[in-house]
Amino acid sequence: MVSRQVRDVYFALMAVPMRFSASAYRALLSPKSFNDVCVKVHLGPGQKGYKPGWINVDANFISAKIDVWADLRDKLPFRNQSVDVFYSHHVIEHLPDSSLLYHFREMHRCLKPGGIIRIGGPNGDEAVRNFLIDNHDWFGDFPDKHHSIGGRLVNFLLCRGEHLTILTRSYLWELLGEAGFDGITFRASITDTGYSDLLSDALAGEWESTPESPHTLMVEAIKSF
Ligand SMILES: C[S@@+](CC[C@H](N)C(=O)[O-])C[C@H]1O[C@@H](n2cnc3c(N)ncnc32)[C@H](O)[C@@H]1O
Repeated sequence: MVSRQVRDVYFALMAVPMRFSASAYRALLSPKSFNDVCVKVHLGPGQKGYKPGWINVDANFISAKIDVWADLRDKLPFRNQSVDVFYSHHVIEHLPDSSLLYHFREMHRCLKPGGIIRIGGPNGDEAVRNFLIDNHDWFGDFPDKHHSIGGRLVNFLLCRGEHLTILTRSYLWELLGEAGFDGITFRASITDTGYSDLLSDALAGEWESTPESPHTLMVEAIKSF
């Protein structure tokens, strides 16, 4: 895993060219507002998550396969009302807590009326519940191995400083509501969705080790107007 310091240097050096690239894409190449095509955007595909048929957006152009180079803390590289669906899996916890509301508002701005989001990330509710019942086995050893339940909780939630916020149902409900989303629904399993027409291909590749107590918190929401 790349250290936080190396990542911070990368983001500092790339900030200007990345902003320029994202702005140029938004102005020249991104789908037009109110287009008739189904526009599917995958935020943060990472090294192995590239999804054909989706517009894959990531800040990492070195090891990740991407279509659009952009920093998700900034204005998203899409026009108003031009996107049908945003899919984001284990990405928003890497954004500073203070930028989450802006990020959700940006998705809301870019979605067409009736467009949807599906977001997944480390499940803070299940982590706390398993911490309180002293269930060591629920927690993994990535990136660090700890014997204490407290150490295992920190390892899961903070991931050696890689995670910059903690995702719980109530917090996501608050932020998504404030960003203007309706129909906020938490999903029971990694493949459970209310929008299989838009998401079935994306979800086909996802996997959860403990479906009865999922490590990933999954939420869907709609822009209703
Ligand atoms: C843990 S990986 C998740 C990859 C994939 N979605 C998955 O589920 O396996 C997090 C991804 O978010 C991207 N990311 C983190 N911060 C970002 C930012 N500020 N802007 C754009 N992408 C970012 C990273 O480059 C990385 O590809």
